[in-house]
Amino acid sequence: MHIVFAAPECVPFAKTGGLADVVGALPQQLVRMGHQVTVYLPYYRQIAVKTPEKIYAIRSLTIPFQYYNHFVGVLDGGERDGVRYYFVECPELFDREFLYGSPSGDYLDNWERFGLFARAVLEASKLLGVPDVFHVHDWQTGMLPVYLRTTYATDPMLFRAGVVMTVHNAGYQTYFPPQTTEKLLLPWDTFHMDRLEHYDTLNFLKGGIVYSDAITTVSKRYAQEIQTPEFGFSLEGVFERRAADLHGILNGVDYSDWDPSHDGYIAAHYTPEKLEAKQLCRKDLLHAFGAPSLAENIPVLSIVSRFATQKGFDILADAADRLLAKDVVLIVLGTGEPYYENIFREMQNHHPGKVFVKVAYDNALAHKVEAGGDLFLMPSRYEPCGLNQIYSLRYGNVPVVHATGGLDDTIQPWNGAEKSGTGFKFHDYSADALLGSIDEALAVFADKAAWQTLMRNGMAQDYSWTKPAQEYEALYNEVARRRS
Ligand code: ADP
Ligand code: GLC
Repeated sequence: MHIVFAAPECVPFAKTGGLADVVGALPQQLVRMGHQVTVYLPYYRQIAVKTPEKIYAIRSLTIPFQYYNHFVGVLDGGERDGVRYYFVECPELFDREFLYGSPSGDYLDNWERFGLFARAVLEASKLLGVPDVFHVHDWQTGMLPVYLRTTYATDPMLFRAGVVMTVHNAGYQTYFPPQTTEKLLLPWDTFHMDRLEHYDTLNFLKGGIVYSDAITTVSKRYAQEIQTPEFGFSLEGVFERRAADLHGILNGVDYSDWDPSHDGYIAAHYTPEKLEAKQLCRKDLLHAFGAPSLAENIPVLSIVSRFATQKGFDILADAADRLLAKDVVLIVLGTGEPYYENIFREMQNHHPGKVFVKVAYDNALAHKVEAGGDLFLMPSRYEPCGLNQIYSLRYGNVPVVHATGGLDDTIQPWNGAEKSGTGFKFHDYSADALLGSIDEALAVFADKAAWQTLMRNGMAQDYSWTKPAQEYEALYNEVARRRS
């Protein structure tokens, strides 16, 4: 079957988080299974600078708004591993420094940028190939299902296409004034509490959920959580109403990129059978962060993360003094909200020689942290799936996680008597509970044989895309069958 992905990010073109890893890897797996997959992305400045040779538009589109039209080029981004990429070019909307907004806030015309993108993908697919199923991702693409089932509901080319939406993070929504409905040329009856309207605003994510044939989220636990007030970010009722069509499909990871046996970014390669070289990666990591070399019995605690409220750094900050009184070193790579950047900078100032922070987005360094760390901390308040803990498992960088969403689904607690389990997890969202789990981990770390068993248990886990891609395939089939 033919599947069209409309996505706001995708490796290697544009990335702010795990969504880009997913959209980079799932299409390739589907192609290996015999499907035809096309990925559409906005032609951001970040993509333009990576493709210095001029790409010419293969199609031109006119996308109408209430008082004006935008002229859009569809660029051929080429083929990679059998996946076809197209970019939607509209310089006045996408040639900007950031993907969604500057550090001071989201771009105010995001309704126009992503409304245009959604419509452009539908129009472009009429020229370049209508799929059996559109697969859209997060609020930025929420308008595609809306246009498909309203403006294009009777379009002879499009009406049969199915549409699946994946919610990677319900915490990211956008709220626009009611008049946005008209500006997007949507019929007023869409601005209704059962459709796009949400507390008198137009909500892109809600629109996507309501108008899609099926909805997925990125772990089974999160699919349950978003139906509750604590995790639904006020859309819990909307998710609950779609419960029959809401599926949790755990993300896979791309082991061709993330495996210490062949990772091109790390100092030395290692495997469960030959773990010794991990020490070289540890040395290399400490060196990269300007930390002095360390005795083997002192654990390196590590973090790679967006700095956002979701990620649980408030409880880490509460725990910091007690944690850093122990014989440990903390390595942090991250970037994001200035509030958390400051928290980590302060931690570094208060605990010189024990905390090493790099405020940066650096993929090579992220690989080095995975390979060089002993314990990987993910105290996320909520985590739809989380990829870093899955990478950590493969690198023998033992995860300590809050039992939420995908963290709960992917990490099994260590059981010393049975020598089973892959990490440590705490249930209460509190500094005390986090410290309790870290203490448990440090006690096992002191026992080298037990620790190696724990590392090997994690390294043996298989979270490749094979199984999740089959689950998506079954869902696409079901959606396509329903529309035929
Ligand atoms: P989220 O999508 O919520 O940020 P995930 O764990 O799903 O969380 O995915 C995060 C992805 O972003 C991973 O691939 C991780 O390596 C990467 N990442 C996050 N922060 C950085 C950073 N500062 N430098 C490099 N890569 C990062
Ligand atoms: C989101 C979530 C993260 C998930 C990623 C990919 O950014 O925060 O938990 O792994 O999407 O689905």
